[in-house]
Amino acid sequence: MMRTVANALVASGLLLAPAAADSCQTPINHPGTAFSNVQPLNTTILDPYGHSPAVYPSPNTTGIGGWEEAMAKAKAFTAQLTLEEKAWMVTGQPGPCVGNVLPIPRLNFSGLCLQNGPQGIEEGTYSSVFVSGVSAAASWDRKLIYDRAYAIAEEHKAKGTHVILGPVAGPLGRSAYNGRSWEGFAADPYLTGVCMEETIIGFQDAGVQANAKHFIGNEQETQRNPTFDPNANATTYIQDSVSSNIDDRTVHEIYMWPFANAVRSGAASFMCSYNRLNGSHSCQNSWALNHLLKTELGFQGYVMSDWGATHSGVASIESGMDMTMPGGFTLYGEMWTEGSYFGKNLTAAVENGTVDMSRLDDMVIRTMTPYYLLGQDQDYPSVDSSVGPLNVDSPPDTWLYDWTFTGTSNRDVRGNHSVLIRQHGAESTVLLKNENGALPLNAPKSIAVFGNDAGPITQGAYNNVNYEYGVLPNAGGSGTCRFSSLSNPLDAITRRAEQDGALVQSWLNNTLLTTTALPDLWIGQLPDVCLVFLKSWAEENKDRDSLDLDWNGSAVVEAVATYCNNTVVVTHSNGINVLPFADHPNVTAILAAHYPGEQAGNAIVDLLYGKVNPSAKLPYVMAYNESDYNAPVTTAVQTNGTYDWQSWFDERLEVGYRHFDANDITPRYEFGFGLSYTTFSLSGLSGNSSASNLTALPPARDTMPGGNPALWETVYTIKADVTNTGGVAGYAVPQLYAGFPDSTPEGTPPSQLRGFDKIWLEAGETKTVTFDLMRRDVSYWDIVAQDWRIPSGAFTFNAGFSSRDFWANSTVVLL
Ligand code: NOJ
Repeated sequence: MMRTVANALVASGLLLAPAAADSCQTPINHPGTAFSNVQPLNTTILDPYGHSPAVYPSPNTTGIGGWEEAMAKAKAFTAQLTLEEKAWMVTGQPGPCVGNVLPIPRLNFSGLCLQNGPQGIEEGTYSSVFVSGVSAAASWDRKLIYDRAYAIAEEHKAKGTHVILGPVAGPLGRSAYNGRSWEGFAADPYLTGVCMEETIIGFQDAGVQANAKHFIGNEQETQRNPTFDPNANATTYIQDSVSSNIDDRTVHEIYMWPFANAVRSGAASFMCSYNRLNGSHSCQNSWALNHLLKTELGFQGYVMSDWGATHSGVASIESGMDMTMPGGFTLYGEMWTEGSYFGKNLTAAVENGTVDMSRLDDMVIRTMTPYYLLGQDQDYPSVDSSVGPLNVDSPPDTWLYDWTFTGTSNRDVRGNHSVLIRQHGAESTVLLKNENGALPLNAPKSIAVFGNDAGPITQGAYNNVNYEYGVLPNAGGSGTCRFSSLSNPLDAITRRAEQDGALVQSWLNNTLLTTTALPDLWIGQLPDVCLVFLKSWAEENKDRDSLDLDWNGSAVVEAVATYCNNTVVVTHSNGINVLPFADHPNVTAILAAHYPGEQAGNAIVDLLYGKVNPSAKLPYVMAYNESDYNAPVTTAVQTNGTYDWQSWFDERLEVGYRHFDANDITPRYEFGFGLSYTTFSLSGLSGNSSASNLTALPPARDTMPGGNPALWETVYTIKADVTNTGGVAGYAVPQLYAGFPDSTPEGTPPSQLRGFDKIWLEAGETKTVTFDLMRRDVSYWDIVAQDWRIPSGAFTFNAGFSSRDFWANSTVVLL
């Protein structure tokens, strides 16, 4: 007999009637036909597409998963706090860091410093700028991702950061136009899940708390926040933020998947997002926070709001949000105004009995447990005073508390990280095309460098505008960084070319290049190679208008390639671009260098000259046409109803390459694709069952961080032999894709990434790669059972070197 989860939760006392708490629930009927059977509110949570069922109360932390001892310390700390102190522990304050929790000197607690972001220290002086998230994902290299995270966290810690605001799994990359996809990893939950895991473990091994953000459905910047009436007060808005309306299966299999990895790897904190999810603000969405995150995934840390994403006090608290940021301010449009839903209002709510003290205690205990777990109470570096004046979120003239600083100012925290960043930059640059032996370069004697992305930045060290001149090693918004040093391609090429006594000349003005015939630029003899550097800007709070290269980049390539028969194009980009010049016969090589951080120039030189053999693979699809992509950002809502911004995720599981596969669209460069200076083959696929008496549903076990531990157990193992068939050593990235059995419900993508590895092979060498498939990898989310189910029938496992380059397969019946 079917038992709805709502009934089960009512029986267990977890689900209450939808009380006033989740005040923004707005069931909206789906306009189309595909999913018009939206469940009425509060009847079931089988498929909450377009509405958010209420799930209360917010579960208390138990410290499961090894946090018990730290939790006991956090409890002891909390027991010593006054009500006011507890309230301020969960209410941010303007101060030197992007987010600040006030010190409590009488308890020797020096407060918490929360800093952006995922690519380095936003306000850092004498700190490094690492490769971006999309770059890290493009490396497909677990060790690289871990090392990068560890090094980022070392620098943050030395500057006094307690919490790094990252890593990012939302946006995941539903839309090719998303302004922030470069901060996140891959348009695939599996790869993003691995990146989240390695990054969180790396951050926290170095002693700094991770913050998995932005939970959940944060897939566009457009209307991410409500629009406010400038003539009314700060809480009156004209139109609410966009609602990401996502069905239950898609939530689990796509958008929540990498966040499950985050919880499992021990993330200290989560950030709830700006958007609404199924009609209810993510930061007061009890289904998302109380049910999915804290109950189903067993999350033991604290949930903080994105900056200004709090739209209520009691409702947010009862829905599972534990800390409001920046706290003392409220977001008013994209403007900050004073006031807080927490702080004194929270004190009053506890005093008048609206919020139970036990809930506030849980909020504080959840906040302090990771602090003790990571030993942040022991000799932790003080906040470097130099970050304060650079803080754009709460500049010094907004500070209310008298912050005191100890320790050296302007600490140089870089160590030898530039070596790592140079290596990472090269290993996350994807070689898309290489013909006529164009690369690696063979001691060219005459080099021409073109494009406005080739040279130094001419507008300061803070990367927050789409400047015309200069290499683009990271992009705009809170993920931007301040450069202490930056290697640009032109300098690095010039230095390297000196070894060959080569002539290097450059033209960096795109306008000139597209309006003047190249021979008229006095180039002289045809250069041995023409290197064209182009860029593609992206930023927070704005989605991209186009997938073209900026500053007329494609026309620059056409102009150069018309004249030069060995044109090599390098892009610095957030990822997805249409490359109309890719088939031009004179365009002999193309490299997607993403946002490689401060060693951009040196890293590209290492690849161009073959010091490093390219090994990166696309973590997204490069299409022929913009119109080949689905799921455009929701824009230009013409009606003015308060809740009219609705983004229906009707493509469901067809995100990224899943859409191209399901609809038989040929990509220009597919997901997982990338060339090397050598070649590889794969053969001898064999499989082995690791579990006896496999059941369709996982055995019931006590929830641990990450959910039912049975989901993470290996149930089947596949092995294959990978051989380097070319003439030089290099990394191969074998990949495993699963085709689910016919019994799996409709809408299942034809092929889904379920394993990968990166292995070094000398020329001629063969190694065996092993893919361990966990129960979750071979299950779909059954919305009726509300559990992960292994379907009966035959799986097809394809192994190869991209999502479309399969070398061997095997058909396996698990059940
Ligand atoms: C808003 C962004 O969405 C978030 O990622 C960032 O950490 C905060 N602002 C703080 O700057």
